Amino acid sequence: MTSGLPVAAAPGPFRFDVVTLFPALCAPYVQGAMLGRAHAKGLIDVRFTDPRAFTDDPHRSVDDGPFGGGDGMVMLPEPLALAVEQVRQERAPARVLLLSPAGRPFSQSIARQYAALGSLALVCGRYEGVDERVAEFVVDEELSLGDFVLTGGELAALAVIDAVARLIPGVLGAAHGATDESFTNLPLLEHPQYTRPRDWRGHPVPEVLLSGNHGAIDRWRLEQRLLRTRARRPDLWQGYLRGDSDPYGPYGEPEPTT
Ligand SMILES: C[S@@+](CC[C@H](N)C(=O)[O-])C[C@H]1O[C@@H](n2cnc3c(N)ncnc32)[C@H](O)[C@@H]1O
Repeated sequence: MTSGLPVAAAPGPFRFDVVTLFPALCAPYVQGAMLGRAHAKGLIDVRFTDPRAFTDDPHRSVDDGPFGGGDGMVMLPEPLALAVEQVRQERAPARVLLLSPAGRPFSQSIARQYAALGSLALVCGRYEGVDERVAEFVVDEELSLGDFVLTGGELAALAVIDAVARLIPGVLGAAHGATDESFTNLPLLEHPQYTRPRDWRGHPVPEVLLSGNHGAIDRWRLEQRLLRTRARRPDLWQGYLRGDSDPYGPYGEPEPTT
């Protein structure tokens, strides 16, 4: 794995680069909704690089059978390395990630760290995975979306882009702060949310939320965060009791509570 300290974010849009065999699969997601608006506002810039463009054999091969035998195909290192080298040269990403089930587990605190970088490149594997030398010598780190196996890295890359982009100032808009959500400020789940109608199919909204007493509402919400986290996520709860900010590592500076 190559080393690389985070570099300070440059002014301008946050640059995301995705190295993928399936750019057409990813493009619609980044063109719609929040990411599409962020792009239109000049806050993010997402580009795709297809490693198949860096092949020179007649079949444009990007994979081959595994040494030592076994099922499936493994992605060749050279097209991926050439694609990443071009991205590094043209876009100078602060960090290059390989999406992999063997990577460190993604979390909100990692999203916050990435959001401060100003640019990120994400390399998507396919098939049975990627030649290990890509992880060792081409990218800066391996990142996992969780303990499950996806067909390819594209969904994981899009999830990372989504989680990071919404932390970039201006992306969510003034009306919405990402400061009081699950895993933010405290390693707790969010409290339950309710909207109209007050009574839905005989299920009323908790009375306190209609009281107009903001102190009582804040106390109720914090209590709900604690109760839910203890009941649903013993791992987070133990970290909270220990005073950890994040089960996977330190949060760094707490976010301002506006
Ligand atoms: C079918 S998976 C390969 C799984 C691999 N054979 C294993 O058992 O760990 C193909 C690609 O999907 C992506 N992928 C699958 N699961 C992932 C996860 N949990 N997090 C991040 N990327 C994942 C990776 O890029 C991986 O190279």
